[in-house]
Amino acid sequence: MSIPFQNEPFQNFALPETKQKMQSAIAAVASQLGQTYPFVVNGETIPTTTEIVSTNPANPSQVIGRHAEALPEHVDHAVETAQAAFASWSKVPSPERVALLRRAAQLIRDRHFEFCAWLSWEVGKNFAEADADVGETIDFLEFYALEAEKLAAATTPIQYPGETNKLRYIPLGVGAVIPPWNFPLAIMAGMTAASIVTGNTVVLKPSPDAPTIAARFLALMHEAGLPKGVVTLAIGGPEFGSALVEHKKVRFIAFTGSKKVGLHIHEQAAKTQPGQHFIKRTILELGGKDAILVDASADLDAAVEGVAVSAFGFSGQKCSACSRAIVDASIYDEFLTRLTARVKTIQSGPPTENFYGGTVINQAAHDRVLSYIEIARAEGRILTGGHAIDTPEKGLYIAPTVVADIKPTSRIAQEEVFGPLLAVIKSTSFDEALDIVNDTEYGLTGAIYSQTPEHLERARHEFHVGNLYLNRKCTGAMVGAHPFGGFNMSGTDSKAGGPDYLLLFTQAKSVAEKL
Ligand code: NAD
Ligand code: ALA
Repeated sequence: MSIPFQNEPFQNFALPETKQKMQSAIAAVASQLGQTYPFVVNGETIPTTTEIVSTNPANPSQVIGRHAEALPEHVDHAVETAQAAFASWSKVPSPERVALLRRAAQLIRDRHFEFCAWLSWEVGKNFAEADADVGETIDFLEFYALEAEKLAAATTPIQYPGETNKLRYIPLGVGAVIPPWNFPLAIMAGMTAASIVTGNTVVLKPSPDAPTIAARFLALMHEAGLPKGVVTLAIGGPEFGSALVEHKKVRFIAFTGSKKVGLHIHEQAAKTQPGQHFIKRTILELGGKDAILVDASADLDAAVEGVAVSAFGFSGQKCSACSRAIVDASIYDEFLTRLTARVKTIQSGPPTENFYGGTVINQAAHDRVLSYIEIARAEGRILTGGHAIDTPEKGLYIAPTVVADIKPTSRIAQEEVFGPLLAVIKSTSFDEALDIVNDTEYGLTGAIYSQTPEHLERARHEFHVGNLYLNRKCTGAMVGAHPFGGFNMSGTDSKAGGPDYLLLFTQAKSVAEKL
């Protein structure tokens, strides 16, 4: 029997008992940091000589986990194992696969705070950000369980006279699942769950910046009943990922990450390997240069708040983050004054102590964001921030930075920074504002603050993004309510958490039988 879907409710950390549960989980997970995780294929530990060490961005000398490193030479064994497991897993009745996802969702729900704590330690999420990531994970598992039930019950729209007609959505084969580090639980689990609930097997290569969360998730999946070999977790770098994409038996690649890597995968997957018997499918969800348009008629308080949280939540490290605010000239100065005051209230400190302003993920990101801040200084007027924040632990903090008077064509207005840097651009009319909004190669999220119905209506049609929000922030898509995915260089618009997502992991077989 089908179970109705409801989004997992957010935790209220203002309640002392909820805050206490989170603090206890942070302390409990602290005692598990630094463990060693082996590379296991089909239940057997593979000897390796190198490891990937993940560290706490708020204190880079603190080790979160040590992971045996999967190298390109291991790809063949991992893929062949997944291919062998496909023979049985693809035949497991859909209700059993669905039940696995539901059991996993319940186990995560039971350990909600523990998973939040791992996210806080390994990638620097504060309590609310970690909670949203864990909640979205539960949502993906339960939503895809429900969608798989619908898929299993699908039929042809027409029964041709004299025949019985059936349409079955069968799995593709072995998938490479390659997630980013920034939603290291939800996106990793979502792409994996969609793959396996439809009967595929997977080689999962998480980001080297978030391997421990993936290892914890996979252990939980086995506890929920995932058979050996159906998902092989391989903690590897770009070389492993690249060799995996190239393997002749990898039938599809589900990737979420940067435009640069996504386009590389797209090209690589298009090249047929000797002995390859199919056209590889790619599901690519990439970066953004997301804009919030603030119209002359906007509720300014709401707009300031929406821009601030969209730009600086999780230090701007969301594909959905607002990195451009396009503000009407008539309210521009007032908006800047209020926004600057709001952003200055953000306090930075350890995510495990629940500061709103936090770290960026690694030293390379720290260097990249600081170099973009120098570009911003040259291209505009820094209103607040504009520097790193030093701490005794050498945490990777950068002050939330607002730069005004940016030209729409400048680098700061065109390139994804993926950090706490917001560019503000002045527009002189609504038409011009819409042109600026769309003047980007990306098209992921966007929002408009306006109280003019005609402008909202035009935005519905002319604001060219996969996820558009009217009079609210441009981050925080909810599974089922806001199917997520972008246009143009933001990806293949696969709409994770939407009704069409699972189709991407299947091929439809039409069977007609003469009566
Ligand atoms: P990234 O592209 O650097 O890495 C993503 C994954 O690809 C990682 O697992 C990485 O190890 C792997 N990888 C790197 N090089 C590879 C190669 N040559 N072959 C195969 N795999 C390779 O991205 P990131 O820094 O982890 O994440 C941030 C990016 O992801 C941002 O651009 C952000 O906008 C984007 N993102 C998009 C969405 C979305 O839904 N559209 C969601 C989250 C993040
Ligand atoms: N799904 C995430 C959001 O909407 C990226 O913010």
